[in-house]
Amino acid sequence: MSDQVKILERINPFKKTITVTSDKSISIRAILLASQAIGVSTLSNILESEDVLNTIKSIKQLGIECKKIDNQYKILGYGLNGFNISKNTKIYTGNSGTLARLILGLLVKTNKIVKLTGDKSLSRRDFSRVTKPLKKFGANIKSKKNSLPIEILGSEFLRPINYFEKRGSAQCKSTVMLAALHTPGITKIKAVKSRDHTERMFKSFKLPIKVRSNKNFDLIEVKGLKQFDAFDYVVPGDISSSAFFIVLTILSKNSKIKIQNVNINKSRIGIIKILRKMNCNIKLENRKIYKGEETADIVVESSKNIKGINCPANINSSAIDEFLVIFLVAAKAKGTSYFKNLGELNKKESPRLDIAINFLKLIGVMVKRKKNDIRIFGNPNLKINNTIHVKKFLKDHRVFMMSCIAALSFVEDGKVIIEDKDSINTSFPTFLKLLKDLGAKIN
Ligand code: S3P
Repeated sequence: MSDQVKILERINPFKKTITVTSDKSISIRAILLASQAIGVSTLSNILESEDVLNTIKSIKQLGIECKKIDNQYKILGYGLNGFNISKNTKIYTGNSGTLARLILGLLVKTNKIVKLTGDKSLSRRDFSRVTKPLKKFGANIKSKKNSLPIEILGSEFLRPINYFEKRGSAQCKSTVMLAALHTPGITKIKAVKSRDHTERMFKSFKLPIKVRSNKNFDLIEVKGLKQFDAFDYVVPGDISSSAFFIVLTILSKNSKIKIQNVNINKSRIGIIKILRKMNCNIKLENRKIYKGEETADIVVESSKNIKGINCPANINSSAIDEFLVIFLVAAKAKGTSYFKNLGELNKKESPRLDIAINFLKLIGVMVKRKKNDIRIFGNPNLKINNTIHVKKFLKDHRVFMMSCIAALSFVEDGKVIIEDKDSINTSFPTFLKLLKDLGAKIN
């Protein structure tokens, strides 16, 4: 079957209520933590995408029982370091940086070697950002060129560390927090603010964690070796998946969408803050709190007068997975938009900053770049009148989905052919179906 889609026309006006798939970061964390709890955890509304299913497979390979019963995942944990690892255990982490990095944090005390591998995209990503702190804890780690494949052998003599997370990476911070669980004493982390689901879960499972925040940093202390009980968790909708529909609605004529039950943790809603500053109409309704995480229905309408933005860099981490689609809004804004310090975008499943700039240029948008800062010269009459072919390069779900949204928003006399349709299975398997339900014509 063909792995490409063709989009020949813009989407017609729509007014709909939808539900997107559940949050990937929270699903992965809930599974990994359930594998360390004592007893049977029940996880509902887990995202059934490749990244998350690879997480379930991984804990099973480490000897943890996990069964799906009536749409709920039941995970039987034996407490901290309760893995039962056989000789020559190999774990395939697919495309998922979150899985590969966080699971290393859980393996710092293992008594057998575990080998981690990943797909082509993941195998070119930097792992020194997590292996360096894990070695400081005392774990033994072997890798060539700081990337996968990696072999890890834990240590019985772990020591707590002081760690400074400078990049605004929740993966790095969370990996260290998970390692800290297995380590005697208090691990201290000073971290540039980033998504804080791990902190919120620790608190809700009554793990000994202290978090103090100042303007730029979070100061986190985790006291290790405290066992915790199995838990129930219902995963909310994913704001990163919602982002594609938020932007499609903003860029389409006379349209309105309600996206139900989405996680709106303040470390994730950079996209809402940025788009509101650009004059877009986004409302949050039906706000609720569940286990320290806030959810809401996101209501969005088409925007007629989008303004450019000078985007403050301290918002970057809270919108890190959404910039590809935020750039599409900037492309249609009246005026110029500035985005700064976006080097981390090139560290994702593919070099997204480079790819976004090329894509915007291909569809006729003027973009200027200085190192990791970009300026997008908006055009409220932006239309695609030529043929654009987005070729498969490295498996990157968000590049595929962004290209679909651009096509459905801007195509006039042209057409857009986009390869790598299957990449959506890593985070958002129902993406194309949901678009078609809104009326999108996708061949
Ligand atoms: C994630 C953190 C972010 C994000 C990724 C998921 C997480 O990565 O891009 O999609 O679940 O912790 P970094 O921590 O590398 O910025």
